[in-house]
Amino acid sequence: MTFPRSFVWGAATAAHQIEGSPFADGAGPSIWTRFSRTPGRMTNGDTGDVACDHYHRYRDDVALMKSLGLGAYRFSISWSRLFPNGTGELNPHGVDFYRRLVDALREAGIRPMATLYHWDLPAALDDRGGWLNRDVADWFADYASAAFRALDDGVEWWATLNEPWVVTDGGYLHGGLAPGHSNLFEAPIASHNLLRAHGRAVQAYRALGKHAIGIVVNLEPKVPASNSDADLDATRRADAYMNRQYLDPMFRRAYPEEMPDLFGAAWPQFPVADFDEIAAPVDFVGINYYKRGMTRRDPHQWVERASLVRVPGSIYTETDWEVHAPALTDLLLWFRERYGAMPVYITENGAAFYDPPAAFADVVEDPLRVHYLREHLAALGRALDAGVDVRGYFVWSLLDNLEWSHGYTKRFGIVHVDFATQKRTMKRSALVYRDFIASLK
Ligand code: BGC
Repeated sequence: MTFPRSFVWGAATAAHQIEGSPFADGAGPSIWTRFSRTPGRMTNGDTGDVACDHYHRYRDDVALMKSLGLGAYRFSISWSRLFPNGTGELNPHGVDFYRRLVDALREAGIRPMATLYHWDLPAALDDRGGWLNRDVADWFADYASAAFRALDDGVEWWATLNEPWVVTDGGYLHGGLAPGHSNLFEAPIASHNLLRAHGRAVQAYRALGKHAIGIVVNLEPKVPASNSDADLDATRRADAYMNRQYLDPMFRRAYPEEMPDLFGAAWPQFPVADFDEIAAPVDFVGINYYKRGMTRRDPHQWVERASLVRVPGSIYTETDWEVHAPALTDLLLWFRERYGAMPVYITENGAAFYDPPAAFADVVEDPLRVHYLREHLAALGRALDAGVDVRGYFVWSLLDNLEWSHGYTKRFGIVHVDFATQKRTMKRSALVYRDFIASLK
């Protein structure tokens, strides 16, 4: 399996999951600081108040990345550090933190990929309707422009949104994620405004004359659990809902034809002119791949009337996700077939397996994660051999971190974090990844 020398090897994180200190240096609350303070929302009542304390330990974490030989690092910027109220005056101390981070990365020879929105909307904007307010596209474009102005000289790639599907499915339809709504009518509106905001930020970036902006979507190849018409139809619906709902408007200027059927009376007529903004050309697409979805009909499941079945004999992760690397190759071929040849990055790929809370040796042995990593790197190589223009790979995640409403109970890191002491310890997967990267030099 051959990777070009220019292939980018990295790891990814997100602000709310690792930084801690949500109110430091004048930052405002986000929907996640608020959500995690709402009783019953988080496993064990966990919050992101400390997380990996990366806000104070970023230098050590950059040194860790360097020791692994990473060529790139994908992190996210917290909107409410830059704009405590979401709009208005820029908070220079918030900018400073990311400035120092980006400079430290550059000094270490690590190329930064910054995500502008990894789920932590300023709470002040949620009070004004959040993603349901059409004005959010302007708010986001203003925030994005400020981030470009402040950091573009050091940031190599920008990603507008992380996983709009999860933002709406979790935040507006099922309510397990912030802001915790469960409303059939809200979900399509939030999705549409996310896409408009993305398009507006891309347009703002173009004014700089650079070519390194994209979006990050999570894709999950859907395969029918049987050949019955019911399961085949369910698979199509699930695929439209999760995989095509955001990419079709961006690249084909229309939502998948299944959408009105999924949402019924809750599916709005969107202004045609919106699609001109949404379809603003991007320079790359970031794909987050974790698992495939073996799908069967399930009339009780909102909105796709489909759910996943367990595959006998497969390994499942701690988040109950099937380990199935071949679908990564299939997915990349499908993406090129449907949307055309363009630069692609795997912006997240990884697995939660049980690791002990404290490390008792110099290395934490994580054989299942090592297996996952190896299988997925091989699947990625097969996509490259088939000519897919994949330019880089970011493992999720650099560190064990706050797994959203699961709190600290699910460990995705290739580096172990002891949350009682903040001690970092390499897991075997990190060393395997390090050696793999070194072997390609
Ligand atoms: C998200 C990450 C998350 C990971 C594992 C992705 O959906 O972008 O923030 O931690 O999956 O659940």
